[in-house]
Amino acid sequence: MSTKKETIKDNSQLHDEIEDIPSNTSGNTPFASVLETNMSRRNIMKGSLGVAAASFLAPAAHAGWGWEWGRRELVDFRPVAIDDVVDTSMPTISDDYEYQILIPWGTPIEPGATQAYTGDPDTRPTSAQAALQTGLGHDGMWFFPVSSRFGHHDSAFYRRNNEGMLCVNHEYGNNSHALGKDAPENLEDVRLSQNIHGVSVVKIKRSLRGDWRVISSNHSRRITVNTPVAFSGPAADSELLQNPNGNIPLGTVNNCGSGATPWGTYLTCEENFNGYFGATGEFFSTAEQERYGFSNNGFGYGWHHFDKRFDLSDPDYVNEQNRFGWIVEIDPFDGTQKPVKRTALGRFKHEAIAIAESHNGRIAAYMGDDQRFDYCYKYVSNKSWRQAISDRESPLDNGSLYVAKFNDDGTGEWLELTIDNPVLASRFNSQAEVLIYARIASDLLGATPMDRPEWTTIGKDGEVFWTCTNNSNRTESAAANPEAPNNDGHIIRTRDADDHLGTTFVWDIYILASSTRGAENVFTDPDAAWADPYGRLFIGTDGGQPDGLQDQLVVFDTTKEVPEPKRLLVGVSSDEITGFTITPDQRTAFVNIQHPGNGSPRDTNFPAPYDGSTIPRDCTLVITRKNGGIIGS
Ligand code: FEO
Ligand code: CA
Ligand code: CA
Repeated sequence: MSTKKETIKDNSQLHDEIEDIPSNTSGNTPFASVLETNMSRRNIMKGSLGVAAASFLAPAAHAGWGWEWGRRELVDFRPVAIDDVVDTSMPTISDDYEYQILIPWGTPIEPGATQAYTGDPDTRPTSAQAALQTGLGHDGMWFFPVSSRFGHHDSAFYRRNNEGMLCVNHEYGNNSHALGKDAPENLEDVRLSQNIHGVSVVKIKRSLRGDWRVISSNHSRRITVNTPVAFSGPAADSELLQNPNGNIPLGTVNNCGSGATPWGTYLTCEENFNGYFGATGEFFSTAEQERYGFSNNGFGYGWHHFDKRFDLSDPDYVNEQNRFGWIVEIDPFDGTQKPVKRTALGRFKHEAIAIAESHNGRIAAYMGDDQRFDYCYKYVSNKSWRQAISDRESPLDNGSLYVAKFNDDGTGEWLELTIDNPVLASRFNSQAEVLIYARIASDLLGATPMDRPEWTTIGKDGEVFWTCTNNSNRTESAAANPEAPNNDGHIIRTRDADDHLGTTFVWDIYILASSTRGAENVFTDPDAAWADPYGRLFIGTDGGQPDGLQDQLVVFDTTKEVPEPKRLLVGVSSDEITGFTITPDQRTAFVNIQHPGNGSPRDTNFPAPYDGSTIPRDCTLVITRKNGGIIGS
């Protein structure tokens, strides 16, 4: 049994529980038809993939660095056995691999920062110190090698794989972890809580001895919920994003998963933003607020008691809530850039984003909305990304947003969220409103309610993998969500028509996590995902793993007919394994240990050795294969 289930409730668990509370009352009924055999869908997928593979040489486009001489199997390492996991105060990694710890909570990163927080249980950083250090809740991230802008291939091969900017999300830290108390008592406490949230952009470099470390850079910075940001796209000028008191747009929060653009920028995804709002006065939620989960007390952070922006009952800040729930673009190579909220991508509980480039340079972005019975989305740019940039537009500002309808015969449709649709025009006044209330627009179009869609990633042949982490509220089996209840989660695979640009797709269930129950390679609650160009699929889990395991990183060879997870890493007590990024040569991976011990020093003091008192700190693991091989091999 996982210790995750044994620990006391705090607001990190409230995150999980509130993610679990469905707010979708649209009545879009899950498909009642009996699940067809997986095989028929696999055949549809195979046919589609075959056609696609002939016209779309995805692997060649990526091949660049890593021809694997003499490999036997794509995924060929010695997996961690269940019995190998004996000390859950520290991670357990495959015998073929090793790890190093990087940027734990409290690492100074901004120029001028000197002091580190090292887990002293009697102190916490001041809010001013926290604003210059890495935060808590390490989640989605991306490694941007030096000279990676616009796909430019630096001739210095060594440098690209040994130096770059690492963008890391700090999704959350509960009050007891961040503050050492259950609730903030003053504005300084709130500012500390706020400053351990957000994003770190940090320059890292590997020394000749092989260890990675933070190095000084003018590009390095902390972005918090108080950093000035800009809005762009169709909803940017909407009055629904303006407040009566005229305060400028500030900040990003609950930065969960991530993605990167072909033009070399970082995308951070705002997920459970509703949990930071509450009401000090009278608050009766509107239908729109209900659908986005706003409530009197949020997740218990208590910011609204000392910071009016987060007070739902303050009329001066009536639209502050609409400024969150977006995907935010960050330039990793410009420490002065104002992060940009891209409204064309819609407002919902954004988990992560994966971008595919079509043959003509237009992009498709695949995104999940992580709540029970919420939806899968796709954005398609109007122009090729290169053309848009040369026209001084963002490829993420002008395009179409779609929501997925999964038919029970293994086909699906992308339904466009456009004000030109009379169904949406009868509910909304503008495209801006459609985007700000994308969840409601999707309800009206009849999108398919899913089992908490988390990360997306693009496979080697252009197929898209979607992790559906679990949904114990599901009472009726549905084609794309066949288990009721779905306690273990599943991974669904889609393949778009017309090389990512079409409005139809085919799909199959890649794996039901429950199918691994009782096996040595058991895993449940798939969440983080990243696929490499050769066919490996890396999955990080978030949920009580069976058989004494903690959350884990498993690797699949997706070129095989039967999916078989291999366990590369097991985390520490009550943590979550999330975020996955890699150097261009695929020889160094970065993976996050999130909320070790749920912030309590009782079971783990990671990354410190066990002492029962040092506060555990979220951190990044740098993972390498002992023989220098490709990660996952
Ligand atoms: Fe932040 Fe849905 O995970
Ligand atoms: Ca997640
Ligand atoms: Ca999760």
